[in-house]
Amino acid sequence: MKRVIRLTGMLLLVGIIAVSCTSKKPEKTIESLKSAIIGETNANARYQAFSLKAAEEGYPNIAKMFLAATEAEAIHVKNHNAVLVKLGEEVFNPIAETPEVSTTEDNLQSAIDGETYEFTEIYPGFIPISIEEKVDGAVTTYTRAKYAEVNHAKLYAQTLEILREKGNDKEIASIWFVCPNCGNLFNDIEGLNHCPICGDNPETFLEF
Ligand code: FE2
Ligand code: FE2
Repeated sequence: MKRVIRLTGMLLLVGIIAVSCTSKKPEKTIESLKSAIIGETNANARYQAFSLKAAEEGYPNIAKMFLAATEAEAIHVKNHNAVLVKLGEEVFNPIAETPEVSTTEDNLQSAIDGETYEFTEIYPGFIPISIEEKVDGAVTTYTRAKYAEVNHAKLYAQTLEILREKGNDKEIASIWFVCPNCGNLFNDIEGLNHCPICGDNPETFLEF
């Protein structure tokens, strides 16, 4: 009889631990990760479409820049998903919205606006939630994505300025690089020792 009572008690304890673990799930962070993945997935699809449009309009260097940016956004999706999986969730792969495509000049402005929204509104809104819920992995992936988007917007703005001034993309870099760890984008890595966002070695960078 004593053994039965002891066993029942143990099972009850295991049950309580399981319930308390479940109730401690950082639900707000999980929700924000899924929302961030939707945003990054849409950005990925937009840049694919913008790359094709730039090539069609005779801007091969801008096409390459957008192609590299496509990969950068895919890296953000992958990094956010890695945190979701660590939290016990399934990998989240939403279907992207059909992108609105205009002229390359307008697409660049739209890309700048999209990135600016991400680094001024989305990630600064998500980071405090994950700090509060103590999900360090989410804080890291959001912070890295935020700084990568700042740099994306800066490079798109430079590109747009050159395109407007010259009417072509000949002065825009013909080779672009992406840090595979954080999605940072570069048009020049000469003399660079490490990725300024994540510290990765430039030898690992993807080339476009
Ligand atoms: Fe991104
Ligand atoms: Fe990096």
